[in-house]
Amino acid sequence: MHSTSVVLLTCLVAIAVSANPIVIRDNLVRLPLARQINVTSPAHIVKADQARAAALISKALAKSSGKLNQDAVISSPAQNQAVSYIASVAVGSPSTTFDLIIDTGSSNTWVGAGTAFKRTSTTTQTKDSVSVTYGSGSFSGTEFTDQVSLGSGLTIKKQSIGVASKSTGFDGVDGILGIGPVDLTLQTLSPDTGSTIPTVVDNLFTQGTISSHSIAVSFEPTTSATANNGELTFGGTDSSKFTGSITFAPITSTSPANEFWGINQSIRLGTSTSILSNTAGIVDTGTTLVLIATDAFNRYKSATGAVLDNNTGLLRLTTAKFNTLPSLFFTIAGTTFEFTANAQAWPRSLNTLIGGTAGNVYLVVADLGSNTGSGLDFINGQTFLERFYSVFDTANKRVGIAKTPFTTATSN
Ligand SMILES: *[C@@H]1O[C@H](CO)[C@@H](O)[C@H](O)[C@H]1NC(C)=O
Ligand SMILES: *[C@@H]1O[C@H](CO)[C@@H](O)[C@H](O)[C@H]1NC(C)=O
Ligand SMILES: *[C@@H]1O[C@H](CO)[C@@H](O)[C@H](O)[C@H]1NC(C)=O
Repeated sequence: MHSTSVVLLTCLVAIAVSANPIVIRDNLVRLPLARQINVTSPAHIVKADQARAAALISKALAKSSGKLNQDAVISSPAQNQAVSYIASVAVGSPSTTFDLIIDTGSSNTWVGAGTAFKRTSTTTQTKDSVSVTYGSGSFSGTEFTDQVSLGSGLTIKKQSIGVASKSTGFDGVDGILGIGPVDLTLQTLSPDTGSTIPTVVDNLFTQGTISSHSIAVSFEPTTSATANNGELTFGGTDSSKFTGSITFAPITSTSPANEFWGINQSIRLGTSTSILSNTAGIVDTGTTLVLIATDAFNRYKSATGAVLDNNTGLLRLTTAKFNTLPSLFFTIAGTTFEFTANAQAWPRSLNTLIGGTAGNVYLVVADLGSNTGSGLDFINGQTFLERFYSVFDTANKRVGIAKTPFTTATSN
């Protein structure tokens, strides 16, 4: 073969590859996720989600007004995380394994709330201390860089990690793996370096471990208290976890939702009852429920005939009303996603875990705590993500949503 034709052949192959990106499943880094529920007081789930929403909103507004102070901006009382998705992450060599909350709403990675951190030969202490305040508590401690291993033994070198000397609100877990936008790490160091701290995803990409700067989350509805049925995929999408095509929505331009994995969306109930007209909100693995602005929540409450339940803090429906509950329809970037009546119900087998009564029907759609127009009018939390596959695409500044084999499951 002439050398020119070899070059030509190589070019053609390269063009074919870039024009038609094939997802090669075995090049993806997969991290199994387990769900953990720890409800410790009446209405804990709703209070925890509302505290988180308030913290996200006030922190983002402070940041966009140039007055971010990680410790001072949150006025609502912290509520321990009630439902978390946890991954096992190994740090150091020889490594210590930590159970970390997977959080798309924050971007620092830190350990030491439970299991103690051990320095090893791969550990380097930086000159900084680090602190972050969440709706569920806070941590402060020392910044180190260390090697972090995920899933199938893939290793990130020199990952910044916080090692907590003090933390509140994180009982039963060791810390957080923050997979939100990197700007959320601004001003978390002291002395302030003025720059962001690359996240685990940023480092996987810049170190060449993953070829696409994107992650995807697969959850499934579950009727047991603990379940190991989630998966976080780094560097692409796992076609075995979704059906049909992925709808991509650009990150919304609306502040403060645009500080997070924010998108525009509208919601209607049944064929014609508008619940939320097209507005900005976020997709969030750290929120349990589907939170919608107070005025939208009131429309949903009266249209469904539900009553507020004092013990769980959730809406409650009679069985007769549940039997005729219409689907909710979420319209995102022109595609409508059906959230069935069954998807709107909290799993009945888990009622007593959240302070409810066995056999009752509680709804997962709850009050965000502020009216529409705040710039963050909904949060599609875990109960949404258990029905739809989600993609957090840093490279293209967009969020993807797709149906899964569980979208219309009747497991609840
Ligand atoms: C649940 O939370 C409580 C209070 O925050 C804590 O004491 C307890 O250890 C936690 N339980 C588990 C299983 O995480
Ligand atoms: C989202 O909605 C806002 C407000 O309605 C609008 O200005 C914006 O163009 C929409 N799209 C995006 C991608 O932000
Ligand atoms: C719920 O609590 C409120 C305030 O404590 C009380 O007025 C109301 O009667 C309670 N509702 C039920 C159904 O118990």
